[in-house]
Amino acid sequence: MTIPNRSKTIRQRLDGRSVVLVGMMGSGKSAIGRLLAARLAMPYFDSDHEIAAAADMSIPEIFEQFGEAYFRRGEQRVIRRLLDSGPAAISLGGGAFLDPQTRELVGRQAVSVWLTADLDLLLMRITRRPGTRPLLQTADPRAKLAELLEARSPIYAKSDLAVASSRHSKKQTCNDVLRALHKFLRAESRTPQDSKGI
Ligand code: S3P
Repeated sequence: MTIPNRSKTIRQRLDGRSVVLVGMMGSGKSAIGRLLAARLAMPYFDSDHEIAAAADMSIPEIFEQFGEAYFRRGEQRVIRRLLDSGPAAISLGGGAFLDPQTRELVGRQAVSVWLTADLDLLLMRITRRPGTRPLLQTADPRAKLAELLEARSPIYAKSDLAVASSRHSKKQTCNDVLRALHKFLRAESRTPQDSKGI
């Protein structure tokens, strides 16, 4: 199957649902989300960007002035709005999928893809943009990141799909996501809807 045909089939089988990218900060959700949106001819949204735009503040400013709990409430509202206005390719901030209500909405209105990456790769990418991740403003950011990765991985694993984020090429990762989506949706279309999840 040629690539444009594959994208068309994916769009058809999504049947109005969005594609949501989840995973740790530094896993490449924004870069891959943008490429994926172009390939699937869908709009692209980044939940962090939407929250910052709505508040007219940066994410570190929101954390500093109002705290994490306030940020999480805004994050949940923004994701609900994005899913309701779909279909789109949407990348979620690293902590968003931990929220059970958000997971439930994503499960109903999107296909979720966990972009996996090891600690070294995450750290390398994160250190390129220092000061942008409030949760890592600690004495030992590597240890904090390792702790978050370990605690969150079982929850990210609840996504429909997992795809490894390539160290070398965004295009390669995007192709891997498209291939995995195509396979997942083909299997799903063969499963009678009423027997799903039983
Ligand atoms: C967070 C990740 C960030 C941002 C906020 C909290 C997290 O998004 O939402 O700093 O809890 O992992 P990215 O994953 O886009 O960096």
